[in-house]
Amino acid sequence: MDTMHAVRGHRRGGAEILVHEVVPRPEPAAGEVLVRVRSASITTGELGWDATWTDRMDGTGRPRVPIVPSKEVAGVVARLGPGVTDWTVGDAVYGLIPFLRDGAAAEYTAVPADVLAAEPPSLGQDAAAALPLAGLTAWQGLVRHGGLRSGDRVLVHGGAGGVGSFAVQVAAALGASVTATAAARDADFVRELGAERVVDYTAERFEDVVSGMDLVFDAVGGDTQQRSWQVLRPGGVLVSIVAPPAETGPDGTRGVFFVVEPDRAGLDELARLVGEGRLVPRVDRVVPLAEAAAAYAALEHEHRRGKVVLRVS
Ligand SMILES: NC(=O)c1ccc[n+]([C@@H]2O[C@H](COP(=O)([O-])OP(=O)(O)OC[C@H]3O[C@@H](n4cnc5c(N)ncnc54)[C@H](OP(=O)(O)O)[C@@H]3O)[C@@H](O)[C@H]2O)c1
Repeated sequence: MDTMHAVRGHRRGGAEILVHEVVPRPEPAAGEVLVRVRSASITTGELGWDATWTDRMDGTGRPRVPIVPSKEVAGVVARLGPGVTDWTVGDAVYGLIPFLRDGAAAEYTAVPADVLAAEPPSLGQDAAAALPLAGLTAWQGLVRHGGLRSGDRVLVHGGAGGVGSFAVQVAAALGASVTATAAARDADFVRELGAERVVDYTAERFEDVVSGMDLVFDAVGGDTQQRSWQVLRPGGVLVSIVAPPAETGPDGTRGVFFVVEPDRAGLDELARLVGEGRLVPRVDRVVPLAEAAAAYAALEHEHRRGKVVLRVS
């Protein structure tokens, strides 16, 4: 039996239950590809998602432990499952792994061939791994769910974070006028991403200084989400990735919550923006796979700019 190094969780919990161990290497089933992982990246809150631990997204599923976390992969096609024709062994690929499957915190991962896209040339394995989940969340939230158009006025909450740093860049690249909330220490970073204006959430209330937004992209939730209704123009949209807002608000405004989906076409759009120099995945730090548990723990309390990446090979 072929084996590999992997980080796994054998019972539901936080970073403290993750172990680095030698486990059987997965086999690609029909329609799947075995990817030799080069880099993987991790997301705040991931170990709290029902989808990470059970066979359903909504909290009603059965446990499917042991699990391998990390839903973003950049690597090389190592083997093809039966029926796969769109990839060749050796292709450099990246993608968002479906949430109800094992992830990429391992030397190999078997994933459906159709969720993978060609890794953008010259991006590098760590930046490529930082792109799929956060980039697709920003893209799908702004474009599909928010209906973003060139010239729109957009407020991004959490503009320095993993998803927010993409949302600021994607909105700006698509011609929006972007305001973002972030701590003062991140203001220059977020401006560099394309925000015309940064509101220091630790010092002022954004609703006192922002109004008339076509779209609010909420990567923070809680009270920040609640206070966002007041800054929308009539008919504007509040898109949250953290928790469902009300479906309708005052003056014809509406709220949307969604969970990002694997999306090759979306990845190709993001790769196009990367190729045009209008999107640069921001990597806060790269850590070895063996230190994944500590990296997950740090996500909950340490300050960062952009994504945390696990270097696997
Ligand atoms: N629905 C989906 O499909 C989906 C997809 C991806 C992520 N998510 C969820 O979205 C959330 C964000 O993920 P992420 O990876 O971007 O997290 P992250 O990297 O931790 O970023 C969060 C950012 O929000 C900032 N922040 C905290 N409180 C704030 C406030 N009151 N106002 C403005 N900014 C504030 C943080 O800044 P400081 O450093 O100053 O604290 C940080 O920069 C998580 O809950 C994650 O689970 C959902």
